[in-house]
Amino acid sequence: KVYRASTTAPVNIAVIKYWGKRDPKLNLPTNSSLSVTLSQSDLRTHTTASCSPSYPTSDSLLLNGSPQDVSGARTQACFRELRTLRQALEASKPSLPKLSTYPLKIVSENNFPTAAGLASSAAGFAALVRAIADLYELPATPTELSKIARQGSGSACRSLFGGYVGWDKGTAADGSDSVAYEVAPAAHWPAMRAVILVVSAAKKGVSSTTGMQTTVATSSLFPARANETVPRRMKEMETAVKAKDFETFARVTMKDSNSFHATCLDTEPPIFYLNDVSRAAIKVVEEVNKEAGKTVAAYTFDAGPNAVIYYLEESEKEVAGLFKAMLGEKEGWEGARGSKVEANKS
Ligand code: DP6
Repeated sequence: KVYRASTTAPVNIAVIKYWGKRDPKLNLPTNSSLSVTLSQSDLRTHTTASCSPSYPTSDSLLLNGSPQDVSGARTQACFRELRTLRQALEASKPSLPKLSTYPLKIVSENNFPTAAGLASSAAGFAALVRAIADLYELPATPTELSKIARQGSGSACRSLFGGYVGWDKGTAADGSDSVAYEVAPAAHWPAMRAVILVVSAAKKGVSSTTGMQTTVATSSLFPARANETVPRRMKEMETAVKAKDFETFARVTMKDSNSFHATCLDTEPPIFYLNDVSRAAIKVVEEVNKEAGKTVAAYTFDAGPNAVIYYLEESEKEVAGLFKAMLGEKEGWEGARGSKVEANKS
């Protein structure tokens, strides 16, 4: 007999960036962060988790058709935590099948090309954790699952929720209070839009895991960012989202992206995630905002050159129109993926 459960998890893009760990094993961050969850019709991971006493003895994971190594500490931590919760359930209800003792088979598919350099670890680990939790019929809340997904990849904890999502850095050494929480549901601000501009030949240079560790160890700008700038911006951002104040949302988003990339440049050796095409996108957004006479668009960049632009539906013409023209005329862009904000499905 094979037991099976399927789920999907969305991509999230931070507007206040997670960059730096105080505990690399548990992925406990040096600062809180805040993200917007993108629509699953555009970007998501679909995952089926199954288990069976007749499976080969070891756990396995297939991503977009190719076998992945599951022996890494992060995947192992997720498997272990979920099995422990299932064991507790089996102990309390002896009639339940002993799924915790069966090998797991995980099959994941992204609906976007992994080669495009889009962050997929967030949706990937969030989907993996939720699929196994569903398979095990765990009564766990998204908050509890966020604690497990965080151990897979820090940013994954935010993909357990829809809409506007915070990740509290927490203070406990065991990570028990380092969890994701809902700032506002997607329905609160339905006019929000995102477009991802994919830079061609986007190969990831320095991985976020390595990059942030080096930044923490060597950047002299970093302590001020983690201890002063981000805590202040978290409050500003939460207030802006709750008040649907796009101007503040946009200004803080752009400032935080630039502050994060400044600490990357201040790292030894320096880390460059933005390229000339990324910088051209920044200029276009600045121009659009200047022409509009107010802030109608905001850019943000993760650990790579792809731009994510946030704007409101009412500014669709100014923003999307201009970028479409830019994509058509200028070299260096591979394509664009428009997106709405996703509601919480759980
Ligand atoms: C720049 O979550 O990929 O996208 O915890 O080491 O897996 P690990 O890092 P990861 O880092 C994401 C960094 C970022 C900012 C963000 O998403 O908040």
